[in-house]
Amino acid sequence: MTLHRSNHPLVAHKLGILRDQTTEPKKFRELVRELTWLLGYEAMANLTTRPERIETPLEPMTVARLEPRVGLIPILRAGLGMVDAMLELLPSAEVWHIGLYRDERTLKPVEYYNKLPDAATVQVCLILDPMLATGGSSAATVDILKQWGAARIKQVSLIAAPEGVGTLSTAHPDVDIHVGDLDSHLNERGYIVPGLGDAGDRQFGTFAGPASEPGHGPDDQTAEVVRRLQRDHAP
Ligand code: PRP
Ligand code: URA
Repeated sequence: MTLHRSNHPLVAHKLGILRDQTTEPKKFRELVRELTWLLGYEAMANLTTRPERIETPLEPMTVARLEPRVGLIPILRAGLGMVDAMLELLPSAEVWHIGLYRDERTLKPVEYYNKLPDAATVQVCLILDPMLATGGSSAATVDILKQWGAARIKQVSLIAAPEGVGTLSTAHPDVDIHVGDLDSHLNERGYIVPGLGDAGDRQFGTFAGPASEPGHGPDDQTAEVVRRLQRDHAP
């Protein structure tokens, strides 16, 4: 398992503003974009290049061209906010959307959108999802991508919980995980603590009231799922 936790001061600074509950959706979206740019740059540091001959205005030379075809896989809906920044870095990347939401009680991912073609069209897949909480959504996405034929997969997330890193790396030890920060734990509702709350709601301004907010009204079944994860993936 390879967990890369950014130690870049710009990432730390921007995450601090992102986490602040007073940060409005507009600013929140800008920060998601800027953080993705920084983390994407780090996540692509070991992509291979091939030599290509070109001519500068002065003389011929051999330059490096990115070798693999790269696919961006945003997990709907919160992953959408990470796509544009990655496309700025990699304009020729293909974007394949996967729609998953987390069942609030079981915390299991429920798939609702997947239009991948029959065979993989890219060699490297970057899964984009701001939050790696229980790891259920990411592990399910990796399952889908491996079935599709993806050879190399990386996860890029802004914030992760130890339980999510444990789940993903146990199920898929070959996946590189790039995160902006690794937080303390999950609460009884499966939210990352201290975290930033609900990344989808904060980006898109969809706050449905107290019942939908992290920390509200723990449910026995959900709390048991979290306890099991914490037993299985104790640091
Ligand atoms: C959030 C987040 C991840 C998932 C992480 O999505 O964007 O996809 O939860 O949780 P996990 O690691 O426990 O699976 P959510 O289900 O809230 O859907 P949304 O993006 O549509 O808001
Ligand atoms: N999804 C989020 O958006 N936030 C969390 O803390 C956990 C899952």
